[in-house]
Amino acid sequence: MTPLPTVRTIAELRRRITAWRADDARIALVPTMGALHDGHLSLIRLARSRATRVVASLFVNPTQFAPTEDFQSYPRNEVRDATLLKAAGCDLLYAPDPDEMYPDGFATTVTVAAETTSLEGAVRPDHFAGVATVVAKLLIQAAPDLAVFGEKDYQQLHVIRRLTADLNLAVEIIGAPIVRDSDGLALSSRNAYLSASERLIAPGLHRALEAAAAALRAGMDVAEVEAEAIGSVLGAGFDAVDYIEVRSADRLARMGPGAHDSAARILAAARLGRTRLLDNIHV
Ligand code: PAJ
Repeated sequence: MTPLPTVRTIAELRRRITAWRADDARIALVPTMGALHDGHLSLIRLARSRATRVVASLFVNPTQFAPTEDFQSYPRNEVRDATLLKAAGCDLLYAPDPDEMYPDGFATTVTVAAETTSLEGAVRPDHFAGVATVVAKLLIQAAPDLAVFGEKDYQQLHVIRRLTADLNLAVEIIGAPIVRDSDGLALSSRNAYLSASERLIAPGLHRALEAAAAALRAGMDVAEVEAEAIGSVLGAGFDAVDYIEVRSADRLARMGPGAHDSAARILAAARLGRTRLLDNIHV
């Protein structure tokens, strides 16, 4: 199999995309940080079904990691990623160097004010500004017709929908369902950090969310649902729970006691050894 074509500069990316546009292509972008798994590849396949050309980006974005986080140790394997992308139906890999994204003198940050200081934003204060800035840049660089993001990072998807609307970017944002292992654990590049014994504990997060969703549907009070889920995750062997919260599915607003009628999403982050696991569930 011939290798996946790869470009590393904005100019080369735009040249390829301009050529496709001349052929009336419908272009999809799938942004990633690499270390790809089936969750990422499901986004490529979804993009493939909605577009005639699929571009994946691979960029471990330094500005969305805090100094104490795992930017240096984040798993990197571009050769493997390119092979997987090609097999999933990707046409082009865009893998810029940090200097291409953030040249000397770079000084602009995109900050989304809606619901970015709670949940992930409370634990990782500068994270969403880093995500919003790099995603805005990627969408402007590739100017795709559509871009696909996973519901695995539900708050991130919400932030990206907001920034796309607010900045009038002419791109359709598509959310893709969470891909899980057979025991329920949501696939994540960071699952590679789990030890064998931690890997056995990890599905407890999804199990707790399933029970919480059922309790909420049965009419249990929001605060009680959240407290019970936190207890269950700690009981399963997790070291700490950063949050488990019931939010409205559309705006991520806090849900009051009588809010059982509208669609909800329960969002969670918990720590197991050196790994932070994220998950969420629709109610
Ligand atoms: P990354 O963690 O590599 O994820 C890339 C995309 O894959 C995101 O849209 C994420 O939600 C999706 N994804 C990850 N695990 C998934 C799973 N189990 N099921 C379905 N989709 C899944 O998210 C990022 O990178 C970065 O923040 C990025 C958007 C690329 C900006 O730097």
